[in-house]
Amino acid sequence: MIDKTAIKSLVAELTLEEKAGLTSGKDCWLTKAVERLNIPAARTSDGPHGLRADDYSRPDHATMPAVCFPTAVTTASSFDREMLYDLGQELGKECQAYGVNVLLGPGINMKRSPLCGRNFEYFSEDPYLAGQLGEAFVKGVQSQGVGTSLKHYFANNQETNRFTSSSEIDERTIREIYLSAFENVVKKAQPWTIMASYNKINGTYSTANRKYIDEVLRKEWGFEGLVMSDWGATHDRVGAVLAGTDLTMPAEDTDGLIVEAVKNGSLPEEALDLCCERVLELAFKAAEGRKEGAVCDLEAAHLLAEKFAANSIVLLKNESGLLPLKKTDKVAFIGAFADKPRVQGGGSSHIRETKVTGALEAAKNDGIEVIYAEAYDRETGETTDELFTEAVKAAKKAEKVVLFIGLPDSMEYEGGDRPHMSLPLSHDLLVREICAVNPNVAVVLHNGSPVEMPWIDQPKAVIEAYLGGQAIGAAVKDIIFGDVNPSGRLAESFPKHLEANPSYLYYLGEGDRVTYNEGVFIGYRYYEAKKQEALFPFGWGLSYTRFEYTNLKLDKTEMTDSDSLTVSVDVKNVGDVVGKEVVQLYVAPERVKIIRPIRELKGFDKISLEPGEKKTVTFVLSKRAFAYWDIDIHDWAVETGSFGIEICRNSHEVILRGDVKIKGKE
Ligand code: GLC
Repeated sequence: MIDKTAIKSLVAELTLEEKAGLTSGKDCWLTKAVERLNIPAARTSDGPHGLRADDYSRPDHATMPAVCFPTAVTTASSFDREMLYDLGQELGKECQAYGVNVLLGPGINMKRSPLCGRNFEYFSEDPYLAGQLGEAFVKGVQSQGVGTSLKHYFANNQETNRFTSSSEIDERTIREIYLSAFENVVKKAQPWTIMASYNKINGTYSTANRKYIDEVLRKEWGFEGLVMSDWGATHDRVGAVLAGTDLTMPAEDTDGLIVEAVKNGSLPEEALDLCCERVLELAFKAAEGRKEGAVCDLEAAHLLAEKFAANSIVLLKNESGLLPLKKTDKVAFIGAFADKPRVQGGGSSHIRETKVTGALEAAKNDGIEVIYAEAYDRETGETTDELFTEAVKAAKKAEKVVLFIGLPDSMEYEGGDRPHMSLPLSHDLLVREICAVNPNVAVVLHNGSPVEMPWIDQPKAVIEAYLGGQAIGAAVKDIIFGDVNPSGRLAESFPKHLEANPSYLYYLGEGDRVTYNEGVFIGYRYYEAKKQEALFPFGWGLSYTRFEYTNLKLDKTEMTDSDSLTVSVDVKNVGDVVGKEVVQLYVAPERVKIIRPIRELKGFDKISLEPGEKKTVTFVLSKRAFAYWDIDIHDWAVETGSFGIEICRNSHEVILRGDVKIKGKE
């Protein structure tokens, strides 16, 4: 336990220069130590789905190999809090083994547009889902005595002009969509640190935004940890300290500005002391949590990565029960991604994998004979006449085809946004040509965010494997041949085409002004309100078995906004294989005065059921499940009226519904 009094007296012993020095990094990853007072440094390292840790023993500080787990877009599709906790725990163990004190993740920014180059690093378009999974992840990592950095606080929803753009958002949208995931993680998991984002919010840089760092984060939500800047996101050292951005990363030679500001009275030394206290708290918490000599089992972690990916993969389509295939079927694997799958995205989160298992290798290891054709260049996504002809020939020879396509590294990465939602042209062509010569085609997608599928009617099956980490090939093999029953559900909507997305008209803004005109209507909140059917809706995912829902019960039909509501529903596996179901609960407010989405996810639970097995799933809903942000009182409020409690297959399909009247704000 960190003794705050001792910290305060330590700060009192620091010189002004030492204090200023503590508010910026020593190098790219370390905070500054102060040897004469036995103040240690803390070591940070990326990233959200694995360690990108420098080898300090080497002059070039090369990145050490570590296990590349499924990226956030993949693990979010698991809808599995326990799995995210386990992933966090595993990453915490690896951090201990590598000597890292703070893992720079999770990324929980909302997916306002499918085009954002870092969508693969984020969980969802839904703040409730992102907040629940972020909470589980943070608790998992921190259970190992390692800190996290919840990022990027906040409204960092595009890469274009990310260092200068201003996210122009109304108060209610900020609260309901862009802050509420952060709010949940802070209140429920107390991340050791928060990373302030590059962008401005309504004209003020996040790192200098006193309202959202001091008033909201610290005073309103009770955040006790340290706020660090994103790398290079501090534009005003003094403003950052005044706002409560305790640590500017990475190292920079501007500490003198802090000294000067204190001396000339423009920066009260008390404000500087507060930042130093939080830097010291982090340093001592890191030292306290450190497990010297810790080791981790990278081979076991690779198998975990496979398990996590298999629990996240989404079966989008499966006509005439094409899947699962039999291991004795005459199968062709077509596409370079079958051999070397795309497992992660580009940028600061990019890991040096310990190894990568492709589906081809996984099938071979399992004694499954497959025909293979490369079909296209893995890096560029382009094909040649020879590769194309060979691929079509292979498809003709096989009984069944698994066609691996997706986005090459060059099309989505940190620092850039996609200009469109299309796959490489050659990949679209391959689907058409392969389906023309073989009626039994399953497409496997490797992409970090939604893509258009103009050929969707042709293949009998489609699997979304996303950027599923270094063991994704083994996980895909598990799913294709039925060793694992798919249980992933989309954590984002797949629009039929880009122009259907609610942010389409305004995305990237005009110069540095990015106006979020769609307000709270992002993702399924828009598609469902406008009755604009998505290609695949939020929450969508198929199984090799079927689930039946009965006996929806609400423990009351009338309540006040200070009561809670208990909801239960029975779920039965009516198929003949074991399977996992994601039970989804949405709240559907009647339209009284406030303009609201027609339904919002407010509960989910993932359960495993043997054939014939039935379980009762229970949810308890309190005020926030029904509330909107009221800009007149600057607080959450529940409108008096009737609310639908909807148990849904996904955001579009309601299975069972009950109604409750709530007496709230008139
Ligand atoms: C990057 C990213 C951030 C990362 C940091 C350190 O620019 O925005 O997510 O943790 O810098 O690499």
